[in-house]
Amino acid sequence: MPIEIMDYAPVGDKRSSDFFNEYRLKIFERRKSSGMEDMLGRICALVVSVETGDAAAYLQELYLMTPYRFHSAYQNETHNIYILESAHDLPRFVVLEPLSSGFVDDLTRLNMLYPLSRKKPNARYVGEIFSTRDLAETQKTLESHNIRFHYPDETENRFFSNTHFAFSFPSSITGNRVGYMPEDTFSIEELELGKRIQLDAATVDALEQVAARVGEGNADRLILGVDHMATRILAGEREDAILEFLTMSNYYFWGAFNIADQNSSTNVTRSPHVDDDKLSPAKVFTANNTPSFVNSFENLPMPTEDFVRNFGRRMHHIAYEVQDGDHGSGEKNIDFTVKRLKSYALPFLAHVVGECTDSPNLKQIFSKHSDYSILITEYVERCYGFDGFFTKDNVAALTQAAGADERYHHGNIFD
Ligand SMILES: [Fe+2]
Repeated sequence: MPIEIMDYAPVGDKRSSDFFNEYRLKIFERRKSSGMEDMLGRICALVVSVETGDAAAYLQELYLMTPYRFHSAYQNETHNIYILESAHDLPRFVVLEPLSSGFVDDLTRLNMLYPLSRKKPNARYVGEIFSTRDLAETQKTLESHNIRFHYPDETENRFFSNTHFAFSFPSSITGNRVGYMPEDTFSIEELELGKRIQLDAATVDALEQVAARVGEGNADRLILGVDHMATRILAGEREDAILEFLTMSNYYFWGAFNIADQNSSTNVTRSPHVDDDKLSPAKVFTANNTPSFVNSFENLPMPTEDFVRNFGRRMHHIAYEVQDGDHGSGEKNIDFTVKRLKSYALPFLAHVVGECTDSPNLKQIFSKHSDYSILITEYVERCYGFDGFFTKDNVAALTQAAGADERYHHGNIFD
């Protein structure tokens, strides 16, 4: 059932300003009148950058933790580009690896600004790519709405200068880019990504071994696809970040929850055009309720603000949906999956949160962040037809677990 976004009343208890509510509807109206609403399709790819030399290890990690499997690799003047796929119709996963460890572009420069992200200055979630029916018109329309795009001669990164894509500047509010590419042309050969390259024999071997290991008993099939991606931003930027993404996408604001004891809120935007979020994953924004210096009066926990001060505004985690059901004797699939991943020595933050006894609910867990992408992986199982997107209790427990892992200690900068 498509959502009627003009009539939709957002859920949750986090209050937004009149300014936000007014412009949320004005943006929806303009998307319709400018043709954006009809031009844009689904999110068709997620793009992540890693340090030079980390791609092979990162691919192995993706094989262990996600349904993504290698499809093809290319090399242009600046990067190796690895394309991974999972089920048909789900977004591709694109891994960018600079050819030179001294490579610098605007995302490198953003990473260099923050104490805990400068150790791996090219490791970062870059952005997601929407398919569009008309690339040139999409860019022209968004530019008329004051969204800035890269032109081919304006970036050191040859991936972004590909004329088959349009990529926005990294957002000042989120650090994320949004990309656009013509609908149905993720037939890789048409994109002129560079020359086709082969993985080296050792990497092919390693990936085959990991695939065989995680495929035993089809255990890897329990991890379905990307459910949502969550960006962390500063306290005062919550409404602007949501309005910016609504301007650049065909998503709607689903709702926002106040997580009072973590001094933060979780804000969800989703595609109104899909029944299954995995076809075009939800984009979530998390922000503190008060900035750190004001929080110093009350000294509540503030893991979200701390994360942004340590790593900069950026994507914090990518969440994968786990097939609902029991594995064997009454063990929920997510518990089985996490036990399996822990047996591969993959570290998790705390325990699975949420109970799935006999009524609709959801269970979730965060991994530790990847050494290669700096992203946390979340798993979520919606039990017994749970039809919400989040529960407040779970979000509070997850936020707390992530905060406990990311404390900044004086001196970390130079480790
Ligand atoms: Fe999440």
